[in-house]
This record gives sequence, C-alpha cells and structure tokens, in this order.
Amino acid sequence: MNDGSNARREQLLKEIGISPVWRLRDAPQAVAEAEGFVPTAGLAAREPEVPMAAHTVSANGDAGSVTAMDWPALKACVADCTACVLHQKRNKTVFGVGDENADWLFVGEGPGADEDEQGEPFVGQAGKLLDNMLAAIALERGKSVYIANIVKCRPPGNRNPQPEEAAACSAYLQRQIELIQPKLIVALGKVAAINLLGRDASIASLRGQQHAYRGIPLLVTYHPAYLLRALTDKAKAWEDLCLAVETMQRLQSAETAAI
Ligand code: URA
Ligand code: SF4
Repeated sequence: MNDGSNARREQLLKEIGISPVWRLRDAPQAVAEAEGFVPTAGLAAREPEVPMAAHTVSANGDAGSVTAMDWPALKACVADCTACVLHQKRNKTVFGVGDENADWLFVGEGPGADEDEQGEPFVGQAGKLLDNMLAAIALERGKSVYIANIVKCRPPGNRNPQPEEAAACSAYLQRQIELIQPKLIVALGKVAAINLLGRDASIASLRGQQHAYRGIPLLVTYHPAYLLRALTDKAKAWEDLCLAVETMQRLQSAETAAI
C-alpha cells in the first residue's frame, strides 16, 4: 500500500472514530464491536483492477426486452418468470429491495427459506447480520442502499445456484444495475463475486482490491451467512467494509469535483 492510500485510510479511521485505537464511540462502532468486528493490521495490498469480464446475455427468452424495461415492467417480468428450474419450487420471487437511486448496491447469492416466504432479500439470520454490517458503516437498508441477489428464486435446500440458473437470471440483475446506476457494488460471497466478475476465484484472492462490473467499481467481501459460522473472518469483513467506505468517499468526491 502506498503512503497516499495509507493516509486516506488513517483519515477514514479517524472520521469513523476508530483511530488510533479501535474503541466504542458512537452507534456504528457499537454495532461493529457487538458484531465482533475487531482490528487487524492494515488492509491487504491493492492490486491493479481486474479487467471486466465479458457478460453474456441471459439464457432467458425475454432477454431482449429486459434490457429496455422500466421498473414496473421488470418487476412484473420477474414475478412471472419461468426461465429456469428454480421457478418450480419457489414460493415467492425475491426481486430486490431498496432505494432505486442508491449509491450502494449489495448483491447476495439467492433467497433462503425466509426470503422465499417473505419475498424480500436478506430477512433471515444472515440478513440481520447484513443490517448490522450496514449499520456499522452508518448505512441503512433502503437509504441509498439497494439489496439484490444473483438469482431471484430460492435454490432448493439452499444449494448454490447452478451456472445455468445464474445465467438465466442475469439479465434481471443487469437491468436493475442499469436502472439504479450505483456508484459502488459490494459482492457478498463467492457466488455473487464470480457471477458478477465472470471468472472463478476465491474470496480471499478477490477481497481488498477494486474490481468492476460493466465499468462500475466493485468490491468483494464474505457472505454474512458464512460470517455467522466463521467468526474469525469477521475482522476481514470489517476491513472490507472500511475499504468500501473509503472507496465510496473517493467516488463521491471525484463526482463532486467533476461538477
Ligand atoms: N442469502 C443471500 O445470499 N441472499 C438472501 O437474500 C438471503 C440470504
Ligand atoms: Fe426466472 Fe431467475 Fe427465478 Fe430462474 S431464478 S425462474 S431466471 S427469476
């Protein structure tokens, strides 16, 4: 890491009240500590941006029209979608939720049992942790935050979505992203990361550096459901969230400077 980014990180840590030592000072930090986010030494070195993968158009027969849909048409299309086998056992489709002009887009894998029941992403245990992760960086579901998944229907037994299912569903997320125009995408977990980046890699190798989805900056972190089991990686997730805040501040100030 160069001196400039070290300085920026120092500044960020000061602003969010965890420098020089990590301590409780305000609500977000209280959440961070309660969630077991603890300090570790420095962020992973940032590597050059990974070139954007070529994205194939969805296998969905409606793909052509999806690319031009407005929100109501897109929502209606997903609600009726039968483009992959996941439609067979779903209870509700889970379109995505939040601010349709959000700066932040968080992308998970696919609905679980609770989400399939309620039709909203991240409402179960993993969702509670995601809400706390958002709170730790002073964000809130629905306020400049949009939450979506790679697939809109629950994979039976919470198995990973198959590549053909993710491909069938990808035009919807792609259109959501075009409509939202987020400044930053945070991929939650490996399934989200590899589908958005179009290449296979581990979370460990992808986190800590900036990638892109169709020109939009993208960062990768652990999936909250994984963090519920792997407590020791919460510290890394906290680093990732700090990097996300730092990246967003940079993107927002670059935009202000350009006005
Ligand atoms: N896990 C996900 O990836 N998405 C959800 O919506 C819920 C749990
Ligand atoms: Fe359609 Fe996506 Fe559901 Fe498959 S997962 S049926 S592509 S909405």
